[in-house]
Amino acid sequence: MIPKISTLSGYLHEYQKSVANPTGFWSNIAETFYWRKPWVKTLDWNFDEPKIEWFKEGKLNITENIFERHLFLRGNQPAIIWEPNDPEEPNRIFTYRQLYEEVNKFAHVLQSMGVKKGDRVAIYLPMIPELAIAMLACARIGAIHSIVFAGFSAKALADRNNDAQAKILITADGGYRGDKTIPLKETADAALEMSTSVEKMIVVKRTGVPVNMKENRDVWWHEMMTGKPVSFEPVTMDAEDPLFILYTSGSTGKPKGVLHTTGGYMVYTAYTFKNVFQYRSNDVYFCAADIGWITGHSYIIYGPLLEGAISLMFEGIPTYPAPDRYWQIIEKYKVNEFYTSPTAIRALLAQGEEWVDKYEMPSLRVLGTVGEPINEEAWHWYHDHVGKGRCPIVDTWWQTETGGIMISPLAGIVPTKPAYATLPLPGVRPVIVNQEGEKLYGKNVEGNLCIEFPWPGMARTLWGDHKRFKEAYFSTFPGLYFTGDGVKRDEDGYYRILGRIDDVINVSGHRLGTAEIENALNEHPLVAESAVVGMPHDIKGQGIYAYVVAPERPEGLEDELRQSLIKGVSKLISPIAKPDQIQFVDALPKTRSGKIMRRILRKIATGSDDFGDTSTLTNPEIVDKIIKGYEKLNQ
Ligand code: WTA
Repeated sequence: MIPKISTLSGYLHEYQKSVANPTGFWSNIAETFYWRKPWVKTLDWNFDEPKIEWFKEGKLNITENIFERHLFLRGNQPAIIWEPNDPEEPNRIFTYRQLYEEVNKFAHVLQSMGVKKGDRVAIYLPMIPELAIAMLACARIGAIHSIVFAGFSAKALADRNNDAQAKILITADGGYRGDKTIPLKETADAALEMSTSVEKMIVVKRTGVPVNMKENRDVWWHEMMTGKPVSFEPVTMDAEDPLFILYTSGSTGKPKGVLHTTGGYMVYTAYTFKNVFQYRSNDVYFCAADIGWITGHSYIIYGPLLEGAISLMFEGIPTYPAPDRYWQIIEKYKVNEFYTSPTAIRALLAQGEEWVDKYEMPSLRVLGTVGEPINEEAWHWYHDHVGKGRCPIVDTWWQTETGGIMISPLAGIVPTKPAYATLPLPGVRPVIVNQEGEKLYGKNVEGNLCIEFPWPGMARTLWGDHKRFKEAYFSTFPGLYFTGDGVKRDEDGYYRILGRIDDVINVSGHRLGTAEIENALNEHPLVAESAVVGMPHDIKGQGIYAYVVAPERPEGLEDELRQSLIKGVSKLISPIAKPDQIQFVDALPKTRSGKIMRRILRKIATGSDDFGDTSTLTNPEIVDKIIKGYEKLNQ
């Protein structure tokens, strides 16, 4: 069994141990899993190339650690409880044995379609059980899954599939989200028009809308599953064999294919799940994220299932059919741990207290948040109205690249403080550095958040682009992993995450690169250039503010042009990337070397007029004009 910390002094002790002897610390935890062959070296690393290898030459299959490890004791216990979008529709519950059999059947399907170890399988599915089955079946046969959030456009899906050179795409006829039906198959068809590698498409029937099945390319999930055997010998994987690719946005250029490997990710997600949430056997745990993002990968599927937990998977949204949907689910299933995002909390807070106050939710023991800084108002509301003042809040800081939670209280053990992620988990060594790269020690310091020592769950590379991996994370401050976040350490030694300090914006907890949105805006024939920055937003945390240079725009038709730009962004990326505000400007403030001065544009979009030095601009006069335009637009 994975060791569980249960007291504050226990935490401090484990932390000390993990720093003094990291390899001893992690190998003790790793030994609690099934290995087909033990590792020969616990860690081999340097942050220069960079090279990170954990549990070197160890052999395993992660699904064997989910299923075979738990079947004897938990075969008849639910693994996944699936709650549909529509509360009137029956739920679906999969015990460990049933899930195991479905995964094995689908592993046979993949194999029969020619998928082999190392092949990439793209998954573009709504939050239905087949998503969990598909990803685990990939892991069972050693194929690398690349899950694309079902809100992404055809172009975004095609770009990811092309980068990963995915062989197969798994989708559904459609998906339900609140009162909307999403035509996924149609989008997948359009993506395949642009695809350079996908040979076959497997389609799950979810909504029953008529779809076009292309002969010799498209097959139905349910037809393929018929008659497949319920056992499948798991493929032996090296600890460092890839488990999955997950695309995420960075400061520049196209999305990055973050690559996670098998052994380290397994050990890290299971350990952090158990300790952060203080999961107890037979608890019902509900993470309301989407599996299309890292939170769903690590804390709906891998972490909980590796621990033999009961993981609740919800298809819908918090406000459908009414803004008490989460509370209803929590009461219905007697949920013990609940994990969501600050955005969801703010959205529900805005609906009024009456929606939550009528639910007692006595089963709740732990509340978690992730994805963006949580403001104090939302923290208190969550604590008082959802947790009724009884439940500790674990504000968990981490990233797609970190694989699992890095800085967070352990529930009920590390005292919490509103808006603080508090202390690093054992094995995690954060450092704060200033712009010059000097480490800032002690209390009450603020700067760039870096990590100075590897942990098992960290990303190993970017798919097909190790150079970019090095540049993005290990070059800003040589010898350190740079997170892209600003952070403060207070007088208690507690960490407070201040948000991104690069050109990534965090909209409703979704990471978006400003460059991606600019590229999409610039595709419009009337747009000469654009600059996108984040702006404060009451519900979303950050909104998207776009400055657009469109000198030939027809007079009086600015709103029409705005609408057409917004449509363009939805089509090229996703509706989540739509600008909240578009300001037309004559020019963008630029330095002599032609770089856009984003610092100034960011300030203007927050309504500030404290710009610091503008003397390095080639066109300082434009700043006043942009401010006037901002005031007019936002009065
Ligand atoms: C932000 C999500 C403040 C941060 C798991 C990070 C947070 C980015 C928190 C990663 C938190 C995540 N407090 N900020 N508790 N958790 N973030 O890759 O800016 O989608 O760099 O991973 O979200 O977003 P990603």
